[in-house]
Amino acid sequence: MAPFRRIRYAAVAKVAFLLSFVFHSSLPVRAQLSTKDHLAEPGWWPSQASRSLYEYAGSAACASCHKQKTADQRTTPMARTLMHAEDADILRATPKLSFQNGKYVYKITQAAGKPELSVTDGTRTISAPLVWAFGTSEVAQSYLFLRDGNYFESRATYFRTLQNIHFTPARALLAPGSLEEAMARPVGMEEIERCFLCHSTAPVVAGRFEPSKLTLGVTCEACHGPGAKHTDAMQASILQGGTGDEQARAQIFDPGRLSPADSVDFCGACHGTWWDVQFAGITGVSKVRSQPYRLQSSKCWGKGDSRITCVACHDPHVPLAREAPAYDEKCLKCHVSKVGSKATKEHPGAACPVATKDCATCHMPRIEVPEMHYAFADHLIRVVRPGAPFPE
Ligand code: HEC
Ligand code: HEC
Ligand code: HEC
Ligand code: HEC
Ligand code: HEC
Ligand code: HEC
Ligand code: HEC
Repeated sequence: MAPFRRIRYAAVAKVAFLLSFVFHSSLPVRAQLSTKDHLAEPGWWPSQASRSLYEYAGSAACASCHKQKTADQRTTPMARTLMHAEDADILRATPKLSFQNGKYVYKITQAAGKPELSVTDGTRTISAPLVWAFGTSEVAQSYLFLRDGNYFESRATYFRTLQNIHFTPARALLAPGSLEEAMARPVGMEEIERCFLCHSTAPVVAGRFEPSKLTLGVTCEACHGPGAKHTDAMQASILQGGTGDEQARAQIFDPGRLSPADSVDFCGACHGTWWDVQFAGITGVSKVRSQPYRLQSSKCWGKGDSRITCVACHDPHVPLAREAPAYDEKCLKCHVSKVGSKATKEHPGAACPVATKDCATCHMPRIEVPEMHYAFADHLIRVVRPGAPFPE
């Protein structure tokens, strides 16, 4: 990461006085950006293409020093979000998946241990062996296959709540023009690269999509950037009896040093930043799928605060905490807990007149996204009035 940014954010208090004469207007912490804008800046940012695989060390190397983190991270859905379709447990466990749209019947079955998608219109049947499975299936899992060297996305996706397949979100085709069109959507190379840049580590190297060389899932270097230099420098430092000097640390991208807005944008590189959602023109309940967008639209966000970044509530190295009480202490870092007490400078949030625990269950309601067959926790933290429409 460029030292320039470090100065602006990490040590901003120290240099603020000095610089305030010179850069008066550029000093206030900047607001959120689109991912495209972040990627245009120098330095590492998630979902960036790679220059060379030699810059990468691989998670196994990280494990030799960050043992616990690596062991934990492996169990997260992020680390397991991409696999070869033949390794998709859910397809092996449920060998007969099907759904029907009019005369079209979609099936995913096992043919000699390999998953196969087939679609019939009653007279003709076409099929293809599935190659890639995206998503752990904790919410959903989608499939890609190849025909004549071109990528296609199956219109059938597995949904956990249905325990069956149904239309791929946003790809439902109620009256397809042909059986081929009913079966799948052709996906151009540029879009394919983007799918893999969010679901795997180092899939695009020196401008080329390298499916045989990528690392499955979002692993250490998908977030921290290439780590070979850090690994080498740390090994050298430890060999000399040290514990890793400042220089060796600086060789790896540490998102812990980002400003609150940049920190949320960091996760937003894949989860969608406020501007990404704005530019994509996403409307309606689908917006709850972008936690950064919803969170930054909350009153709690204000002008940004390190107590309300994604990592304030979620440790990206461990699986998501599913119990509401786990989040109470996060809310109470800002909200006064005693009814009737006034908000203070340290606790700028008012007290709840209704309850003292399980805050998220009422103020971050689960919102059903019909095409996902799943209810997402709404990160637009708010007072929910019964019968009120979904606030965009
Ligand atoms: C030879 C040992 C070693 C290896 C291998 C290693 N690290 Fe580190 N790393 C350290 C030490 C020591 C520190 C400083 C203490 C700490 O923060 O845990 C550190 C710090 C870090 C930091 C915080 C940087 C900062 O600004 O303080 C990150 C992020 C990190 N390592 C990620 C990785 C990743 C990702 C890999 C694999 C690509 C990796 N490390 C491989 C030893 C190692
Ligand atoms: C390189 C892309 C990428 C980045 C960067 C990223 N995520 Fe994710 N995240 C994903 C994908 C893909 C999934 C879907 C996992 C699945 O298949 O279920 C996911 C799922 C999650 C989940 C739900 C899974 C669970 O644990 O139950 C959480 C929580 C999450 N991410 C938090 C974060 C946070 C916090 C950050 C920023 C520190 C972040 N993510 C950054 C790609 C990313
Ligand atoms: C900008 C980054 C990005 C791109 C591009 C992307 N995904 Fe994802 N994908 C994510 C994240 C983040 C999640 C986790 C969403 C959540 O659960 O909140 C996810 C989740 C999923 C899921 C599981 C459903 C879910 O909500 O957990 C599937 C299936 C999936 N993606 C397939 C694909 C396919 C196929 C492509 C390409 C056609 C693609 N994705 C492109 C970031 C991306
Ligand atoms: C989804 C993105 C993501 C992935 C994947 C990820 N990290 Fe991190 N990591 C972060 C963020 C964000 C921070 C800063 C968190 C904070 O300050 O609370 C961080 C901080 C760290 C730190 C320094 C702070 C500390 O807690 O010691 C180390 C070391 C580290 N990560 C190592 C790793 C290793 C090793 C892996 C792979 C096993 C890994 N990370 C995978 C996002 C990620
Ligand atoms: C960074 C500090 C911070 C954190 C963390 C935080 N809030 Fe807030 N929240 C505020 C501030 C500031 C306001 C606006 C002043 C007020 O109404 O109290 C606010 C407003 C609210 C409101 C009123 C919103 C409205 O529409 O009027 C609710 C409800 C709320 N917060 C609940 C929560 C819950 C639940 C959590 C934890 C899941 C949480 N907050 C975490 C600072 C925070
Ligand atoms: C104030 C605390 C808080 C903050 C800040 C926060 N989250 Fe969450 N998040 C939650 C809660 C609570 C849940 C629901 C957990 C459960 O399943 O009970 C959740 C669930 C999720 C999920 C799982 C999807 C779902 O709805 O089941 C993802 C992905 C996620 N958060 C990503 C993020 C990202 C990215 C950010 C930063 C923009 C973020 N979160 C910031 C509290 C928070
Ligand atoms: C059982 C549901 C429920 C739980 C649990 C809950 N709240 Fe509330 N909260 C409400 C309702 C309903 C209101 C609106 C009260 C009114 O305006 O009459 C509210 C109001 C608020 C407000 C706005 C207060 C104001 O003066 O504007 C804040 C802030 C808040 N809650 C924070 C929290 C926090 C923090 C927690 C956890 C310690 C929490 N709530 C737990 C239901 C709940």
